[in-house]
Amino acid sequence: MALPSRSQQTAVDKEGHQWWQHAVFYELYPRSFADSNNDGIGDIPGVTSKLEYLRWLGVDAIWIAPMFPSPHVDWGYDVSDYYNVDPDYGTLQNMDELLAKAKQQDIRVLLDFVLTYTSDQNKWFQEAKSSRSNPKRDWYIWRDGKGPGQPPNNWTSLFGGSAWKFDPASDQWYYHYFYPPQPNLNWRNPEVEKNLFDVTRWWYKRGVAGFRLDAVDVMYVDSQFRDNPVVGTDKNAFGDPVEREIYDKNQPELHGVLRRLRKIADENNAVLIGETWTSDIDQLRKYYGEHNDEVNMPMDFMFTTINKLSPADFRKQIQWVDGSGGWPVYVLSNHDIRRVYDRYGDGQHNDQIAKLMASLYLTLRGTPVMYYGEEIGMENNDPKRPEDVKDSMGKAGWPKEKGRDGERTPMQWNAKANAGFSAVAPWLPVGARYKSYNVDIQKKDPNSILNYYRLLLSLRHTNAALLEGKYIALNEDDPNVLAYARIYQTKTVLVVLNMSGVLQKVRLDLASKDIHAHPAKTLLSSFAAPKQVDVDEISVEPFGAWVGEIQ
Ligand code: NOJ
Ligand code: CA
Repeated sequence: MALPSRSQQTAVDKEGHQWWQHAVFYELYPRSFADSNNDGIGDIPGVTSKLEYLRWLGVDAIWIAPMFPSPHVDWGYDVSDYYNVDPDYGTLQNMDELLAKAKQQDIRVLLDFVLTYTSDQNKWFQEAKSSRSNPKRDWYIWRDGKGPGQPPNNWTSLFGGSAWKFDPASDQWYYHYFYPPQPNLNWRNPEVEKNLFDVTRWWYKRGVAGFRLDAVDVMYVDSQFRDNPVVGTDKNAFGDPVEREIYDKNQPELHGVLRRLRKIADENNAVLIGETWTSDIDQLRKYYGEHNDEVNMPMDFMFTTINKLSPADFRKQIQWVDGSGGWPVYVLSNHDIRRVYDRYGDGQHNDQIAKLMASLYLTLRGTPVMYYGEEIGMENNDPKRPEDVKDSMGKAGWPKEKGRDGERTPMQWNAKANAGFSAVAPWLPVGARYKSYNVDIQKKDPNSILNYYRLLLSLRHTNAALLEGKYIALNEDDPNVLAYARIYQTKTVLVVLNMSGVLQKVRLDLASKDIHAHPAKTLLSSFAAPKQVDVDEISVEPFGAWVGEIQ
């Protein structure tokens, strides 16, 4: 008898978990994933052509960074039309084909919903800008200046300079938290909410399984437009004063929008991932909603700010999010964050460290969101000269801030020209090591990072303790080794991660956690470990990872 496909399985399992709680998500940057028509730019048919690969790897859902029509001031995060596909990436028909083929492969497709601001080329903004009395004027945030040439207040843009841009034609300023061509929408206007919500309904009908919500923290600003307090006298990378962003961020009203958006998602068996940058766990907790009725998957970015192999820091962060009451969502890198290989690599054991970090975020209780290329150990390929920079953030901030091109380079498929991404030179240069770090070569090597990822994904889909088990920290004082158990009913999986460059003989303190210390069977290890392991003393090689199950 054939097993039901994943999409046919019941909505909730016996532990009350829904599909997205057991799924592995994979973020891909459409411009850099696969180029089907050899113009140097990745596209939607390119993504479709790689679904089989993603299924082989064990991915359940993809989140596609924005593929809507856009002038690409911020590479798609400046949307000029929410109801179409950018011609660089294909057509709506290509999108429908992707959705249909993905369904066949049991892969769900999520889009990136840029709901806080639009492009200034969006017809909504064009109308709003046309006159002060235009009915859409209030869809954006317009204010008079404090005086001639003076913006309404001191708020600064994340990408440098004032967050206000003057429009001489109407003699008012409009607000943009990001680039000037990204005017913020006025979510206090009910028409904005209605129109943006309709966008999600339209895509759900086409078969989309959810959205990653962009920049939700800056969706609202203070209704009185008060100045932010300035901290000290230092300037940031753009030469702006450093502000405490209390009036342009995290305004309480945004939670109402998230609750209403969630309701529509629930009606469509869809899921919302949040771009939820927070500075403490209480802030993160708010995004789940008081009744777990806001963002299903607020990403824990505090996890990504741990930039060294520090068991103590990881332990603390895991404990916080695991005990938060919400379902943890683990991320290590994305299109805004430097790749794992660079952040944690020591230059000598980078492959081992890539496997170590994979073993961490893919064995925790929660949902992991992978970033394309991490599974083959891609590294950052940062621009060397200012004239090569494609990311406006790098253009504005050079040389202090080189921008995010480095983590957005083309996926490395094989050792042929341009890493098999395209027949012509790609929009960003391919990483220097692509001849050995590519999918083709690593598929053939049983010890590759890619095959290690594949085994890990398979394990987390089939092992009951990894699927359902609670998280129990072990050896909490160990400065070198991060160890924990995942326990479900009679099953106990142990995870031992050596974050140091020397061999560690680990004596797991199981007794104090009431875990019986029978021998364990190795399920997966990044080094040659015996099949049976005595848990009284587990030898773990430098930067090695060991995952085993108590017998
Ligand atoms: C969040 C996106 O992740 C980032 O890439 C983008 O630059 C900002 N939003 C602003 O649009
Ligand atoms: Ca193309």
